[in-house]
Amino acid sequence: MCALLCVGEGAMPVAPWRGAALLLCCLCLCAGLEEECVLGIVGKPVLLPCLHPSLGKSWNFSIEWRKNDKAVFRSLWDEDENVETWSVNHVRIPTDAPSSGNFSLELPSAHPKHDGSQYSLFLLSGDNQSAPLCTMCLRIGASFRVPQVERKDSNESDESTYLCQTSGGYPQPVVYWLVNSQEPPNGSVWTEAEELPGSHLYNITSQLTVNISKDVTVSCTVDNPPMNETLTFKYRESRNPVVRRASEGMWIFSTVLCVVVAIMVFAGVYYQIHLDRISKKRKKESLKGQRFRYMEAAEALMPEPRETDV
Ligand SMILES: *[C@@H]1O[C@H](CO)[C@@H](O)[C@H](O)[C@H]1NC(C)=O
Ligand SMILES: *[C@@H]1O[C@H](CO)[C@@H](O)[C@H](O)[C@H]1NC(C)=O
Ligand SMILES: *[C@@H]1O[C@H](CO)[C@@H](O)[C@H](O)[C@H]1NC(C)=O
Ligand SMILES: *[C@@H]1O[C@H](CO)[C@@H](O)[C@H](O)[C@H]1NC(C)=O
Ligand SMILES: *[C@@H]1O[C@H](CO)[C@@H](O)[C@H](O)[C@H]1NC(C)=O
Repeated sequence: MCALLCVGEGAMPVAPWRGAALLLCCLCLCAGLEEECVLGIVGKPVLLPCLHPSLGKSWNFSIEWRKNDKAVFRSLWDEDENVETWSVNHVRIPTDAPSSGNFSLELPSAHPKHDGSQYSLFLLSGDNQSAPLCTMCLRIGASFRVPQVERKDSNESDESTYLCQTSGGYPQPVVYWLVNSQEPPNGSVWTEAEELPGSHLYNITSQLTVNISKDVTVSCTVDNPPMNETLTFKYRESRNPVVRRASEGMWIFSTVLCVVVAIMVFAGVYYQIHLDRISKKRKKESLKGQRFRYMEAAEALMPEPRETDV
């Protein structure tokens, strides 16, 4: 589509400089269009959307998806019936593509080796090739683990070395350090990215070597733009890293909570016992009163023993 647009603009009879300007503008436009990529997460299925409702209305047609000009999927329809399908690596399109017009390509699992690939859908009529009906670029990403920072003191000098380590992500991230919210001096940071064996995912190790006093906060940030991912680890130059402090805080909080709850429970139980005692006392008193009255009544009813003796 982009190429067509550019050729159309270039063919117009205009002054050379205007042509050049148009071409430049066109290039910008094309670059802008190509920026719109589909993001695939490593190991997850990816869908490269392509809708072409008018295609299903034709008879006897075949389509081909190409990855960087190499065919990865081909399908032929004969009067609404799928005659032949061929694919590489189990890629596919919806089975109802001709009726729905949904010719989106599904990749079963995104892999870093697909990163930056251009996928295009072509309509084939015999050996005839058309301009692509859909063109899509694919970007691949994977999340990094939260980085871990550890400090290594050297005995010979006052310099401290901090190591920041993370792995499992893609593409290569931007790693930067801050010492008390300020950039460390030039040349103090050294970062290495190596591929994890058996995958194209990265293992990142960054090293900061600085001469700093105690009681500063050092942070290591791993920025992975395609994934919108910014991971930071803060390290406090003291015996306890910040993370441990947070857990200590949690510990104190939970202890206080436990004590408060215990006090409340004891107060409740004590109050209940108190209530019970009061009600028992009252019952006893009323019982006593009753017994007393009963005895009085009984005495009144019973004939005086002395009188019977007499
Ligand atoms: C489609 O192709 C088949 C043979 O491949 C042919 O018999 C049929 O007439 C064709 N249909 C149309 C509508 O062109
Ligand atoms: C096209 O097909 C895919 C895969 O079946 C589906 O996920 C997607 O929602 C469909 N798109 C539309 C617009 O129907
Ligand atoms: C390709 O198809 C178009 C129409 O779809 C036709 O004009 C053109 O001549 C065809 N080219 C070849 C080489 O068959
Ligand atoms: C990443 O590299 C570091 C330093 O080379 C190494 O210690 C670590 O084991 C590696 N991690 C993985 C997951 O391979
Ligand atoms: C990243 O953020 C942009 C803009 O907020 C959003 O369009 C895009 O889908 C996000 N990507 C991911 C992987 O979350």
